[in-house]
Amino acid sequence: MATRHFLTLLDLTPAELHSVIHRAIEMKAELRENRAGEPMKNKVLGMIFEKSSTRTRVSFEAGAAQMGGHAIFLSSKDTQLGRGEPIEDSARVISRMTDIVMIRTFGHDVVERFAQYSQVPVINALTDDYHPCQLLADMQTFQEHRGSIQGKSVAWVGDGNNMCQSYINAARQWDFELRIATPEGFEPNAELIEANKDRIVLCSTAQEAVKKTDLVVTDTWASMGQEEEKQVREAAFAHFQVNETLMSEANSDALFMHCLPAYRGMEISETMLDAPHSVVWDEAENRLHAQKALMEFLLEH
Ligand code: CP
Ligand code: NVA
Repeated sequence: MATRHFLTLLDLTPAELHSVIHRAIEMKAELRENRAGEPMKNKVLGMIFEKSSTRTRVSFEAGAAQMGGHAIFLSSKDTQLGRGEPIEDSARVISRMTDIVMIRTFGHDVVERFAQYSQVPVINALTDDYHPCQLLADMQTFQEHRGSIQGKSVAWVGDGNNMCQSYINAARQWDFELRIATPEGFEPNAELIEANKDRIVLCSTAQEAVKKTDLVVTDTWASMGQEEEKQVREAAFAHFQVNETLMSEANSDALFMHCLPAYRGMEISETMLDAPHSVVWDEAENRLHAQKALMEFLLEH
């Protein structure tokens, strides 16, 4: 049986994604009620980080421990990866000693190449192009607060980055409309838009995008690796802030999400994270439950 990986949301079928979310909600209750099992007993998770992280590291490491497994944090700075050992060689070695691996890196080709040479499931924990684990948490959070997202309307406001591109894949897999507003020159990948044009509405203003939507999502204007472009981006994105005035254009029960870390006064107003629409803290917590369900799924398949 071929090893299953999770490099983008398209690696699981819609039915499989639904079952992972269902299981995540179940595992959250099991943890709360102190009746969780240990589906990772004696299993080892390798965690390769070439970029910074708070949520992803804590959720994977805590998740593995809660499931009876063990996690090894591997920073590229301290491993031979940082000294130029090829990713293919690293994959062959690390996957002989672990049961599952997650990678956070720059180029998406790095996770693809690792997966190609890995004997064990590989999870994309963020690349420049996609952040599928975050979408599992976002979809779980919507489900918990509002029920099924199928047929709903979602607004993406800001950069056409890895999160936006993952929302495009989510729109396909969960069957919702995605209204995208980015400044000119910061749109998501053109081929990805073309392949999903039946689900996407490209808007020229943030106001147009959020109108009558059920969920509004944004992210930092300068992702990891784009620190040098910060000033240019702040100027380009000035009209793309999500604040309470913009949220008032969405449906009255619309939710607000942000993968975090957030920059108050930039992509969001000072008060947006704590506004009544905001579910960002549940969203952050759900990284833990959703990834536990994902690891359980991948270890079983
Ligand atoms: N949302 C997210 O992936 O956060 P970290 O960068 O802290 O892992
Ligand atoms: N788009 C952001 C997400 C951080 C979780 C980044 O890539 O830095």
